[in-house]
Order: sequence, then structure tokens, then C-alpha cells
Amino acid sequence: MITKKLGKAAAFIFLLTINSSVTKAQLSLIPKPDFIQMTEGAYFFPSVSKIQIGDEAFDTVGRYLQKQLLSKFGYTGLIHHDKKQVSAIQFVHKQNLESEEYEIKTASSTLIIYASSPAGATHAVSSLLQAFSFGNKSASGITIPAFEIKDKPAYPWRGFMLDESRHFFGKEKVKSILDWMAFYKLNKFHWHLTDEPAWRLEIQKYPLLTLVGGIGSQTDPYAPAAYYTQADITEIVAYAQERNIEVIPEIDMPGHATAANRAYPQLSGGGNDKHPDFTFHPAKDITYSFLTQVLRETKALFPSSVIHLGGDEVSFGSEAWNSDTKVHDLKQKHDLKDNKAVENYFMRRMADSLKTMNATLLAWDEMVDADLSKEKTILMWWRHDKPKQLKAILKAGYKTILTPRLPLYFDFVQEESHKYGRKWGKLYNPLENVYNFSPNNYASLTTDKNQILGIQGNLWTETVINTNRLDYLTFPRLAALAEVGWTKSSNKNYLQFSESLKKHLNLYREANLYYYDPFTNTHPEPVVIKKTQRVYIDNPE
Ligand code: ACM
Repeated sequence: MITKKLGKAAAFIFLLTINSSVTKAQLSLIPKPDFIQMTEGAYFFPSVSKIQIGDEAFDTVGRYLQKQLLSKFGYTGLIHHDKKQVSAIQFVHKQNLESEEYEIKTASSTLIIYASSPAGATHAVSSLLQAFSFGNKSASGITIPAFEIKDKPAYPWRGFMLDESRHFFGKEKVKSILDWMAFYKLNKFHWHLTDEPAWRLEIQKYPLLTLVGGIGSQTDPYAPAAYYTQADITEIVAYAQERNIEVIPEIDMPGHATAANRAYPQLSGGGNDKHPDFTFHPAKDITYSFLTQVLRETKALFPSSVIHLGGDEVSFGSEAWNSDTKVHDLKQKHDLKDNKAVENYFMRRMADSLKTMNATLLAWDEMVDADLSKEKTILMWWRHDKPKQLKAILKAGYKTILTPRLPLYFDFVQEESHKYGRKWGKLYNPLENVYNFSPNNYASLTTDKNQILGIQGNLWTETVINTNRLDYLTFPRLAALAEVGWTKSSNKNYLQFSESLKKHLNLYREANLYYYDPFTNTHPEPVVIKKTQRVYIDNPE
């Protein structure tokens, strides 16, 4: 009798589990929410519906939702502030939620969004738009299964970096990337705007930076000048802000400075045959005053409190400093024993400039020894083969963002058979490796529990000669990345993610993205043909 009862109970629990996993799969949200429960029945959203904004703080989010409903589904949202009117969607302020946290509850004709800030409300809108995308659509509205969500991110920094120095994609593509980032609750867009091939950010005080420095790309030194005007930047920053995305510009220094030096040769600290004019001159005052002016204009354009100053791979060209008398004198004067010490000195001086602008300095992991302020510096760990670097960052007490080449560089290929991207020896970055990356694995190295701010995927564009290649390398790895940053490790499950992803691939198809399909290989790998288009294999040291 007892065993029979237990058997029944077990069967019941089993059915419940199966049932809930089946219904959960129907919502197919990526990143997977912290808590989601399917409830009884369904929610119907009529094609002309009232949206009640219960708090002025949500006005902008409400308008964003209204625009999205119209552009994605052709539906009309009627925004109002009258709490007495029954409405299809209600935004409600809930004080005790964290800033990015949100809750959603559906009843048959009302869906309530709870948040304490626009950030949380925007994430709720993203969940809603995903649910609607997979719902049952008709001319009269959308039906989705009823559900309840309580959700918040595992990490505050969930970033994506685009290198537009090597190839320029333009405003519309950047906006589309921001749309997908918001859809996946990614919240930091790191924009690599300056490097060897070209300088892409208009600086009014130094127009040659773009008029001369904007010419060329990785694959065509004569490509006409392409860059973002300050008006473009303002437009893109506002577009990102509406989606709760912070835009962080990178002005790379003292290496990767070739394009700037082409425009203003007096700034050059030299380089070598492979990387000519690669460095800014570290021993001329004009370098520091020039770059400080550049940063002033940059800071005024980007509301982010963070500016990325690069600091990577300076040794690719700093040997030129060995034969420069001014650098020799600088070394003597400040007791700098080698070129690495000069790099560090350079970054400290620029950190002082940023400090006067009340900005936080972001830099690559090479800068761990530069003795920068722990409070006003964040370092990005990118050299996966140098775990010591990460240990040093954490031990020194810096905050950090994890962006290791393996598995978070999206210029690496995704399959053994792919020919036109980067590999590390035989290694590359399949979707599953991106998904399975766990920042938690590094928690034991931290000295303070909030030291790891989060994660970031980086798309370097040596081989990204067109938007098809951009799409192919970015999608669907962007979706996997989102779950790495948002979803608690204990809640992640690759099989479940893959099931949800199948539905998301339909959305990519509808949006005309040239995505990589890990299930059926719908699109062939976009070819890179010209010899100059760098197809390379990194060699592990
Ligand atoms: C880098 O990949 N050079 C940061």
C-alpha cells in the first residue's frame, strides 16, 4: 500500500516535472530567467491595447515598448497613466527590487511588470517581446501561455565588443546589434574605434584623425574615409540608452596608434616593418596634451563613466623606443628600466587625465603592473593562456571583466571545418564552449566577492569583410554569451538552451541575418578571398 502510494507520488512528481519542462520550453526565453513558472491558462494581448505606466520613471520604457510592438507585430499600444483603467500591460514600481531585477505576472487579460528602475523594466520588455515572438499571432492579437517570472542577472557587466577600425559596418548595423543585445539583456557595448587600419571617431579639434585616419581598412588601404560623426555618436548612444545599453568607447594607446599617427605624424613613437608607426610617442608632452583633448571630447559624447584606453600589445612596436633619444632621457629622468615601464608610465599619465574628467579607466590585462588606482580602474582579462595575469589582477584588488580569447573571442571559428577565421593551434570557439564558460570557476581567486564584474564577447574584424561574416560569427554565439552573463551556473543547461535556440534561429531568419546554424548548417561559411584578408592561426606560445 505504502509503496503503491509512493509510486503514485513519484509518478505525479515525474509528470509535473515533464509537464513544466514542456511548458517552459514553450516560452523559450534566452537568457533563461532565474525563476519561471507556467501558470494556468493563457494571456491574450489585443492588437490595440492599453499600456498603463504606473510611475513616471517608466515613461521612456513604455514608449520603447510601444514602438517595438508596432515595428515587430504591427500592434498599437495606448499609453496612459490612469491607475484605475484596466490595461493589457501595467508597469508597476516595486521598491525592493534591485536595479536590473524585474518580475512579470500574467492574468487572463492583464500582464503586470514590476521593477524598481528603467533597467529592470527594460529587461521585462525584452522577456515580453521574446514571449510574443513565439506566441500565437493573429490580426486580433497574440496569445501566449500564462506565466510568472522573477528574474535578475548573475553579473552586472554583460558585454559585446565590436572592432570597427579594421572594417567599418556603419550606423544601421550597429543599431541592429544593439537591438539584439537588448533582446538578450546584454548591457555593455564596447566600441573599438581606433587601431592600426583606421580611426573612426570624429574629434572636432583634430579633424585629420578621421579625414586622413579614417581612410582604409584591414583589407583595403584605399577605402574611402569612413567614420562616425559626433551627431552619429549621439544618435547611437541615445538608441543604446533606450535599450539600457551603455556604450563604452575605446581609444587604444600607446600601441595600435597607426591611424592617428598617419593623420598627425608628430605624435608617432615609431614601430617596425610589420607594424609601422604603431606607438604614440611616450616622451613628448604634445602626445599627452593631444590625447587629453581627444578624451575630453570623447567623454562629452559618451555618457558612460568608463573609457577604455587599450594598453594591449604595445611590445608589437615599442622596440622603436630603444633608439629614440627622447625616450632614453625619459627613462633616465623617471628611472624607467625598460619599455614596459615606459608603457606603464604612459598609462599612469593618461589615467591622471581621465581622473580630471571623473572617468573610470578600462584597459586590457597588460596594464596590471602599471600601478593604477584600484578604485578608478577596471581590467579586462583576455589572454586565456596567461591565467597568472588574472590572478595578479584579482590579487592586486582590481575589478575585472572576463573576456578570454578561448572561448569568448568571436573572430575564432566555430567548427573544425571552418576555414576563414582564427584558431588557437587546433582550438576554436564552438557555441557549446561559449555557453559553458563559467565566471564562477574563478570566484575562488577573488579577494572580494564583487570583483568579477562579468563577461564580454569580442568580435575583432580582421576577417570580417562584410556583414554576412559579422552575422555568421556573432549569431548564435551572442545568445550563448547572454546566458553566461545572466543565468546562474546552477540554472544553466546546454540541451535546454539548444531547444530554445531552435526557435530563436527562426527569428534570425526572419530578420535576414546570415547566422551560423549549429543544427542544420543552413548557411555556408562566408568566404574570405583576397590574400590581404588575414586568415591566420594563432600559435600558442
Ligand atoms: C587584444 O585582443 N589585443 C586585446
